[in-house]
Amino acid sequence: MSRTKIAAANWKMNLQMDEGYQLFNDILKGLDKNESENLCLVFPPFVHLSSFTQLLKGGTRIRLGAQNLHWEKSGAYTGEISAEMIRSTGSEYVLIGHSERRKYFNENGEILASKTNAAINEGLNPVFCCGESLNERKENRQFEIVDKQIKEGLFHLPDASFEKIIIAYEPVWAIGTGENATALQSQEMHQHIRGLIEKYISSNVANKLPILYGGSVNPGNASEIFSQPDVDGGLIGGASLNANDFIEIYNSL
Ligand code: PGA
Repeated sequence: MSRTKIAAANWKMNLQMDEGYQLFNDILKGLDKNESENLCLVFPPFVHLSSFTQLLKGGTRIRLGAQNLHWEKSGAYTGEISAEMIRSTGSEYVLIGHSERRKYFNENGEILASKTNAAINEGLNPVFCCGESLNERKENRQFEIVDKQIKEGLFHLPDASFEKIIIAYEPVWAIGTGENATALQSQEMHQHIRGLIEKYISSNVANKLPILYGGSVNPGNASEIFSQPDVDGGLIGGASLNANDFIEIYNSL
């Protein structure tokens, strides 16, 4: 089964308007002549979204997404951004459940389920993040933790919604630490996640579902990680802030 390969850039809370514009243009230029069918997703801070979508020409494999959303459509939620607003910038994707949101903004399973609903209802593609902490891995509870996160965040959705879902496995101990999961560790978890989806949803959905690995992916380790049969690409933080590094990672898909 051939699935879409994806390199996704998570810029987090980095880059001013001019810096972001420069980096996005460098990525556009770097991928301009690239004829691969692989998808490139860029998740900049909200402020960049509408100017970036205007730079996209038809035919490009680059798509934009937001790093977060609120679950309500509109109203008195000072500081928040809705799925509809994200959509109105021309963006098509949204990150949900990143471990930094879970940790610093107390986003639990219930909140994340509401967010996946809001995204799906507005036609956005959620990139749903999951992953265990270092302690949970030391206690060999990584599968149990990831199962719980996926069940809580996604299993209330009708089967047809899974067409739009991408899962990103991001072990917390590998995010921003320079210590990536080995290719075998990522393959083991991705295979497990695909098995979970097969068991509870369907083998058709499981076979089609892109599962990305995230956590200290760089140009030196990307090819090996992406060569695993159940790893369909990566969600890249630090290394996505450098155009050459990110393009090299994209080219390793
Ligand atoms: P990293 O971040 O590549 O800097 O480890 C990945 C992420 O948090 O998505």
